Parts: sequence; C-alpha cells; structure tokens
Amino acid sequence: MKVVVNDELRNKSGSNPSERSTRHIEVQLPSNITYRVGDHLSVVPRNDPTLVDSVARRFGFLPADQIRLQVAEGRRAQLPVGDAVSVGRLLSEFVELQQVATRKQIQILAEHTRCPMTKPKLLAFVGEEPEPLERYRTEILARRKSVFDLLLEYPACELPFHVYLEMLSLLAPRYYSISSSPSVDPVRCSITVGVVEGPAGSGRGTYKGICSNYLANRRAGDAVYATVRETKAGFRLPDDPSVPIIMIGPGTGLAPFRGFIQERAARKAKGAALGPAMLFFGCRHPDQDFLYADELKALAASGVTELFTAFSRGDGPKTYVQHILAAQKDKVWPLIEQGAIVYVCGDGSKMEPDVKAALVAIHREKTGSDAVAGARWIEDLGANNRYVLDVWAGG
Ligand SMILES: Cc1cc2nc3c(=O)[nH]c(=O)nc-3n(C[C@H](O)[C@H](O)[C@H](O)COP(=O)(O)OP(=O)(O)OC[C@H]3O[C@@H](n4cnc5c(N)ncnc54)[C@H](O)[C@@H]3O)c2cc1C
Ligand SMILES: NC(=O)c1ccc[n+]([C@@H]2O[C@H](COP(=O)([O-])OP(=O)(O)OC[C@H]3O[C@@H](n4cnc5c(N)ncnc54)[C@H](OP(=O)(O)O)[C@@H]3O)[C@@H](O)[C@H]2O)c1
Repeated sequence: MKVVVNDELRNKSGSNPSERSTRHIEVQLPSNITYRVGDHLSVVPRNDPTLVDSVARRFGFLPADQIRLQVAEGRRAQLPVGDAVSVGRLLSEFVELQQVATRKQIQILAEHTRCPMTKPKLLAFVGEEPEPLERYRTEILARRKSVFDLLLEYPACELPFHVYLEMLSLLAPRYYSISSSPSVDPVRCSITVGVVEGPAGSGRGTYKGICSNYLANRRAGDAVYATVRETKAGFRLPDDPSVPIIMIGPGTGLAPFRGFIQERAARKAKGAALGPAMLFFGCRHPDQDFLYADELKALAASGVTELFTAFSRGDGPKTYVQHILAAQKDKVWPLIEQGAIVYVCGDGSKMEPDVKAALVAIHREKTGSDAVAGARWIEDLGANNRYVLDVWAGG
C-alpha cells in the first residue's frame, strides 16, 4: 500500500508542546481491497536500519554482506534458505530483534561462552531455583533486555550468527484500528499511530517500538506491506442508525471512533435519522494531545455525536474518561436502557478495567444491584455484543 499522508497529530510547537508523537497515516488501498469501519490494518514492519547495522557488526558482518542459509534435514525453513541473501535484509525483514530474552535463550548464550568470568554470570539467570528466577525477573524481564542487549553486555559470548537467527521469533505484523470510513474515500484508509519511544528499560539508549517508528518514518509515496483484517464481529456500527451508541476511547483509542463518526456523518447526509451517540475522549492536555480536535468539535457541532473530554494533565483536577462517564450517568444509563452499544478502545491493561468498573458502578446505583449482579450484568452485556472491546496492552 502506498503512503499518501503522514502527519503529526500532536502539538509540537508553542509554549506547551507534547514530548511524544502520534501520527495520522493514510494509505492508498489496492483496487481489490475494501474495508468497513472498525476493521484493522495489519502492517508488516522492518527493523530500524541503525539497529540492524549494530546487530550485524556484533557478529562481524556488514549489512551488505551476503550469506547463504541452509536448513537442517527434517526441519522446516522459516527464513529464506538456499539463495544468497544479505545479512541486512535478514535482520530487517525477518526477525524480531527487540523481544525480551527468554531463560532458554540465555542458556544457549551461556553454552556459547567460554570466558570463565562471563559464563557463570549468564548461568546465574537460568535454573529453576527461586534465586535465578528472581534474578531473571528483575534484571531481564522487568528491564526488557533482549538477546542483543545481552550480547552487548557480555562481549565474550561467542554466539554464532546462525544460532542467533534460529533463536529469534519471526517478525510479526502489528495491528492498527482503521480511523477512517470508506464513505469518505473507499480507496484510502487512515490509521492513528502512537509512536513508542522512550529511555530503554535496559538502561542502554532509547527504546523505539519497531512498527510505530517504521510507520512514523515513511514518507508520502513510500510503500508499506499491509492488509485489512476484519474486526471481531461485535465491534461494528449497528446497521440500524437509530440504535444509541456510547464510544469510549482515550489516547489512540480514539482511532476507530473517528471512523464511526465519519460513517454516521455520511449516513446522516444520505437522510438517515441518527440515534444518540456519546463519545468520551481523554488525553493529557487540550493544548498537547487532543487528537483530531477541530474535526471532532465540528462533527459534534453538526449533531453526529456528543463529545465529552477528560484532561489528565490539564489545568483542572486529573480527569480520566471513566470520571466523565460517571459524571454523565444520568445520560448514559437511559441510553443503556434503550439498548445502547458500549464500545471501548485503547489500553486494555488499566483503562478498560477501570471503565468497566465505572459502568458497573452506574448499574449498581441505578438498579440497586450488588457486586455479583453488577458483574453478571456487564458480562451479559458483553455476551450480547453490547459491551465490545478493541483493546491492546500499552507501553
Ligand atoms: C487489535 C489491536 C489494535 C491496535 N490498534 C492500535 C492503534 O489504533 N494505534 C496504535 O498506536 N496502536 C495500536 N495497537 C498497538 C500496535 O499494534 C502496536 O503494538 C504498537 O504500535 C507497538 O508496536 P511497535 O512495533 O512500535 O513496538 P514493539 O517493537 O512491538 O515494542 C512494544 C513493546 O516494547 C515494550 N516497551 C515500550 N517501551 C519500552 C521501553 N522504554 N523500554 C523497553 N521496552 C519498552 C512494550 O512493553 C511492548 O511490549 C493495536 C493493537 C492491537 C492488538
Ligand atoms: N501516543 C503516543 O504518542 C505514545 C508515545 C509513546 C508511548 N505510548 C504508549 O502507548 C500507550 C497508549 O498511548 P496513547 O497515546 O494511546 O495514550 P496515552 O496518551 O498514554 O493516554 C491517554 C490518556 O489516558 C489516560 N489514562 C492513563 N491511565 C488511565 C486509566 N487507567 N484509565 C483511563 N485513562 C487513563 C492518560 O492519562 P495520564 O497519562 O495523565 O495518566 C491520558 O490522559 C501508552 O501505554 C503509552 O505509554 C504512546
């Protein structure tokens, strides 16, 4: 797919700029590919060239060096075997270079280490006793050290390149919620990408997420390998436009709802009578990361949705989407009673459980239910595709 737009969505200038980056990326769809609002774009990334260069050099190669891989008899080849291939291509297109090292991988590193000082240090992370387990948890897992981080930390390790390649996972595609509607342009779609970047947990330099940085660095005209993936059955706009909807999407969780709202605007333009819609969006500061602010405000003004915002680092008290949801309980509850569908998108580790708890609290207050009945209520709502999620684990 050809990239046609790659814009920054955060405010990076003025007196209160955002330190992070979120990109609005539009791609041209090949003629045989269509999508519906709520679908995902699955993107195959490439590893960062600087990282690829460092890894190649650690094994005594330059990225341009050509090698030929062979597969052991009876084994299935997952990497290109038989033909000459450059070390750079293998490392950038085929394998995950930044995943946390497993204990099995550290065991293999130790097996390929003759240095009497280094070997015991590596072996200290393996073994089933509580001590190495704890050491692995605190020093490797919590700090997200990769095999490559360990190869830099322990230069005496003599891991052969083919063993390194064999131990890595294949580079996985990443999913992004499509943030546009085909009603606006059927041959283009957009995604809204939070760029993962920060001081590396390992303590060594900056950590850059593979796919989000790969996408952030694409320019208009560049090609990316991607495909449209259908969403889970429930994460769809109802066919009947009069069914009320409640959308909750802080941060990049806003993505699919931009598509939903565009679709509702298109239906309205065609004369459909829209039921009520509430959109709850949260970000740090209205000056920094209120994604698509002008567009959302205009769509809200045109009656396509109501917009409720929560600012966690604004001038007032720290506010999250679940707080404004609770504050709107007298509007939210009647919609739920009328059969509203509740959609939640974004961080699945903390935000979604907190939002769920806020909804259960509204149910308990409005119906007098106890905790067990409240939990059963939200479970039933989910089973009936009326509490539907598009969530992922964040940073
Ligand atoms: C269904 C679905 C929909 C999604 N929709 C969107 C979307 O619309 N927009 C969006 O932006 N994302 C979305 N995501 C997330 C997206 O797929 C990627 O996971 C995300 O972009 C990160 O990928 P990456 O390759 O950039 O990072 P990776 O290279 O995969 O790195 C991420 C990993 O690095 C770890 N990490 C983070 N910071 C550090 C650090 N400082 N030091 C060490 N380790 C660190 C994280 O814990 C995480 O395990 C979605 C995910 C799913 C499953
Ligand atoms: N988008 C980016 O540019 C970017 C860049 C690097 C990394 N990431 C990582 O990617 C993930 C998602 O980023 P994002 O941009 O979508 O979101 P985000 O900007 O991290 O968060 C969006 C909003 O949700 C708030 N929030 C935090 N915890 C919450 C909770 N339990 N319930 C409800 N709201 C909560 C945040 O508040 P507070 O932050 O004030 O608590 C913020 O106001 C995060 O883990 C983030 O660290 C994103």
